[in-house]
Amino acid sequence: MSDQILWFAARGAGIVSLLMLTASVAFGLVTVARFQAAGWPRLFNYEMHRRVSLLSTAFLATHVLAAVMDPYLRLGLGAALVPFASSWKPVPVALGVISMYLLVALIATSLLRRHLGQRAWRLVHWTSYLMWPLAFAHTLTAGSDAMAPWMLGVEAAAIAVVAGAATWRWVDRGATMVLGARALAR
Ligand code: HEM
Repeated sequence: MSDQILWFAARGAGIVSLLMLTASVAFGLVTVARFQAAGWPRLFNYEMHRRVSLLSTAFLATHVLAAVMDPYLRLGLGAALVPFASSWKPVPVALGVISMYLLVALIATSLLRRHLGQRAWRLVHWTSYLMWPLAFAHTLTAGSDAMAPWMLGVEAAAIAVVAGAATWRWVDRGATMVLGARALAR
């Protein structure tokens, strides 16, 4: 019975963590794009980005803890801390471990941003373009539900949200560069 609880906890917390991570990346992208509308202030994007990232970390900790304690998987703590150390699906688990380290670095440098300076913080923040795809690849390859119809829906929604926000950010960047070039030409 408790084995089943751990298994459900690992899967449930993993899925919630991925959804929160997806929302965090999307809010981060629209924050940089300076999106705002009536009833949707710019500060809302930033606050959501911050809070959802922290929530994602809490669910990730639950996910990893439950996966490590699951007697069926027998992962062991080493597998959760050292990439490729897992004897169960080594590459899929390693994708999750690397993504977890990137997330921890992103959160830590954001909390210490004032002491680190903008340049170092920005450099680490760029790794989020790698962190989310790694977490997504981990979901597709490690999860026992990855190909279930409802999970395919969740995965498609996550891709649509991140792709939509990324497109918005790059279109906005292009528009800003054109306006800047026009202003310089005057
Ligand atoms: C940002 C990092 C991570 C995210 C977002 C994430 C998310 C997920 C998701 C969504 C699943 C699929 C659950 C399912 O199909 O029902 C999963 C599976 C799994 N994850 Fe992670 N994970 C992350 C990191 C890790 C780490 C560091 C470990 C190391 C212990 C890990 C171990 C596992 C295992 C063992 C499974 C398979 C569980 C099963 O289906 O029985 N994950 N993960």
